[in-house]
Amino acid sequence: MRMYDIIAKKRDGEALTSEEINFFIEGYTNGDIPEYQASALCMAIFFQDMNDEERANITTAMVNSGETIDLSPIEGVKVDKHSTGGVGDTTTLILGPLVASLDVPVAKMSGRGLGHTGGTIDKLEAVPGFHVEIDKSEFIDLVNTNKISVIGQTGNLTPADKKLYGLRDVTATVNSIPLIASSIMSKKIAAGADAIVLDVKTGAGAFMKSLEDSKALAEAMVTIGNKVGRNTMAVISDMNQPLGRAIGNALEVKEAIDTLKGEGPKDLTELCLTLGSQMVVLAGKANTLDEARGMLEANMKNGKALERFGTFLSSQGGNGKVVEDPTLMPQASYKVELPAKKAGYVSDIVADEIGTAAMMLGAGRATKESVIDLAVGLYLNKKVGDYVEEGESLLTIYANQEDVNDVKEKLYENITVSDDKVEAPTLIHGSITGE
Ligand code: URA
Ligand code: CA
Repeated sequence: MRMYDIIAKKRDGEALTSEEINFFIEGYTNGDIPEYQASALCMAIFFQDMNDEERANITTAMVNSGETIDLSPIEGVKVDKHSTGGVGDTTTLILGPLVASLDVPVAKMSGRGLGHTGGTIDKLEAVPGFHVEIDKSEFIDLVNTNKISVIGQTGNLTPADKKLYGLRDVTATVNSIPLIASSIMSKKIAAGADAIVLDVKTGAGAFMKSLEDSKALAEAMVTIGNKVGRNTMAVISDMNQPLGRAIGNALEVKEAIDTLKGEGPKDLTELCLTLGSQMVVLAGKANTLDEARGMLEANMKNGKALERFGTFLSSQGGNGKVVEDPTLMPQASYKVELPAKKAGYVSDIVADEIGTAAMMLGAGRATKESVIDLAVGLYLNKKVGDYVEEGESLLTIYANQEDVNDVKEKLYENITVSDDKVEAPTLIHGSITGE
């Protein structure tokens, strides 16, 4: 088999066989196939697409390129949730303990954030003492005992994806649905979940800006998951404005605590209940989404969800008392309000730009080497559709620097107040299930 012929075949719009796809992924991962041939194939795939069979085959080939995690020693159906991008997306922090409180096992491998999207581990490290450096047997034991644990990226999972993603990043081939879908799904499958709930974001703060592209990506991932034997479904949710009100690590943990008590922002609560209901049904703990939702709401009200969060934190060295007293987390030195320049209805809060403003304060990493400030961030006092008086605070800046003028300027540029009444945007744009 020759790489040249595989490139030519895809260039001409033909489908590749599983042998050809395996040849490429194996050869590229071990260094036999050079970068220039791999980039030519990525560009051919970008233009010619892949059919469902090819998408499933490239995903499986990437899973087989490295180690996989065996979660079979954990009792029950392991359901993983994955959100594609997003700004101020606190859902994982909430969903973990929330579904665990209904004995749905959550065995989560998580990463750190880069750019305007925050990572779950960074957020959790705002809890003093909390760490994810646990070994695999402890991880399994914790999930069996508490039904929830989060571990850092361990082992050599999907090396083919790591190498290919790096290549795509510099060859303008990231934005290809078969390549994004196989990249994300290979990581989820290698991490061992039995069932997968995808939260595919759409809008300014998302990978896919248009609803049409977001639906196509969601369908591609759901088809791959089900083809390779993992029960997979997707919810498409709005990411034009940041989710919830808090953006920043300790601030988002506080927001998670509020939400677990049933006192969180409306949109964040709704998305968590939507995704959580799907997880509970896939795990076989409820027969219908309505029944699952009722169970989740009950555990928010009766304190069980919050209690589970505290247990989870203290089991991994964290100070579990933060669930009663969030001020035990790092606190910013300065609180600065952003007053509205005129009265009206908030019509736009551009998610990715707001995320960048939070990063400028130190809440996110500009490069892999950046050290983040866990205390700083933003808190939206107004969301799209809200009325604001002139001079009333649009949002609060939590900073560890006195001068926040450049951040304020960026925020003003990306928050629009209009005279006309604006409706709150639709949060859930639909869901996609396997055939
Ligand atoms: N995230 C991934 O993990 N892979 C992609 O290709 C795009 C986003
Ligand atoms: Ca948030």
